[in-house]
This record gives sequence, structure tokens and C-alpha cells, in this order.
Amino acid sequence: MDAAEKVRWFEGGFGLLYDRLLSRQVRQDLLPTHVAIVMDGNRRFALSSGLQNDQGHRMGKEKVREVMRWCRDTGIKYLTVYALSIENLTSRSPQELATLFDLYESGFLELCDDREIHRDRVRCKAMGQIHLLPARLITAIEAAERATKDYDDLVFTVCLAYGARQELVDAIKGILSDHRDGKIDPDSICEELVSQYLYTHDMPDPDLVIRTSGEERVSNFLLWQMAYAELCFIDVYWPAFRKRDFLRAIRTYQGRRRRYGR
Ligand code: FPP
Ligand code: MG
Repeated sequence: MDAAEKVRWFEGGFGLLYDRLLSRQVRQDLLPTHVAIVMDGNRRFALSSGLQNDQGHRMGKEKVREVMRWCRDTGIKYLTVYALSIENLTSRSPQELATLFDLYESGFLELCDDREIHRDRVRCKAMGQIHLLPARLITAIEAAERATKDYDDLVFTVCLAYGARQELVDAIKGILSDHRDGKIDPDSICEELVSQYLYTHDMPDPDLVIRTSGEERVSNFLLWQMAYAELCFIDVYWPAFRKRDFLRAIRTYQGRRRRYGR
């Protein structure tokens, strides 16, 4: 048996057993209600594996489906993923953006009639400056949102053309507009009211924010909402993110909550 075969054998046997034990362990403790993820490292994964960039993104898309499954298995109620920042719309090449838009479009269309999504009652939506996206992608997003609008066992949100500062700008505009219409008294403006004007007005703040690829930045993601979140930076590229990395992040969250909760 060569080294690669040994690793595969270990992964298939002890690896699965280890994941199952870890899964049982985290389910016995307080789970985060909302997990948010900065999926980073698709291109570095491709480079380190001798693949083209678009292959890295394709594998990144498959990983999202896997993580949705892990959330359902574990009992997480909200999963939010950062798939495209507003800055990415100008910083990435038109060819790369076209590949990404194709992946998002096919991803949302697949969700519309996916058996697992309907069986597990997963609500799918997108959040960000959606009007800046190509029409075909907006149509796919709307179709997935319509097909899953009555579900709430897991709420899956894809942040696209998203920027947290822009979200705050939009909230300020909304508050000012309602003030002009006589609906808001300035003295009533408080944290709860601001939260109601964010894109995330109908979901709880994230309890755990994970970023893959070893980078330790929040990159304009959910800045207001992550005020009290636990942050977990994982030194694995997104396509290589494993169930045990996900479960260990939850276990880290549980350990920190216990220490700080005292
Ligand atoms: C980060 O890696 C990844 C992205 C900007 C794109 C994320 C998109 C997917 C994972 C596909 C998701 C699909 C759906 C339907 C949600 P990077 O390009 O920044 O790689 P690098 O950090 O190594 O340069
Ligand atoms: Mg990156």
C-alpha cells in the first residue's frame, strides 16, 4: 500500500468514524444558530493542485452543497455564505466574473427542484446589490427564492455583490426616507431599529463566522451583525474544507462560549 492509498484508507475508515464522533460531540452542546462563512482560497487551491482557476471555483460550488448538508445534519438554522463582494465586480476580470456568474446561475437553478432542498425545507435567498448582477442570474435567484419561500428549517443566504458598508449606507437612506415620511422620530433610533433596516432584518446575527484559506480579515462582510460573533480562521482552502474543519470550528465556538459565558 503506497502513502496515498494509506491516507485514503484512513480517511474512509477512521476518518468517517472520527467525523461521526465529532458530530455527536458538538450536537450535545449549545449550537450556533447562525453560521456565516467567507469562502476563500478557490484560486490558490486550483494553483496548488495544478488546476485552472475555474475548476477551483467549480469545486468551491460543490463544497457549498456539502456544507449545506452538514448544517442540516448538525441542526444549524441559518447558513450565510459570502460568494461575491461588491469590490469583486470591478477587481476580477470579465472572464472570471462570467465563470462565477455561470456557477451562481446554475447553482440557484439547481436549488429550485433539488429533492434534498424540498425534503429538508431549505429556504434559499440572495442578499446584496442584486440589481448590479446580470439579468439571467437575477432570474435564477428569483426562481429559487420563489420555489423555497415557505421553508424555514434551514435558511441559506448567498451574499452576492455584497458590501457591509454599502448595506449600512442603504440602511441610513431607508431610515432618512422613513423619517421624511413621518414614520420615524429621531429619538426612537436605536440599535434594534438600525438592524431592522439592514438586508438581514429577518434573521438573527451570526454566532460564528468562519473564514477559510488562512487569511485573517473580515473583508467588509456583515460588519454590524458580527459585533458579538466568534471568529474562526481556518488554514484550509475552501474547496478542501472538510466536515471535521466545520465541526471543529463549532467545537471552538462552544469552548469559547463556555469560557466567556461565566
Ligand atoms: C474565493 O476564492 C471564492 C470566490 C470569490 C467565489 C466563491 C464562489 C463559489 C464558492 C461558488 C459558489 C456558488 C454558489 C451557488 C453559492 P478566491 O477566488 O478569492 O481564491 P483565492 O483567495 O485563492 O484567490
Ligand atoms: Mg480570495
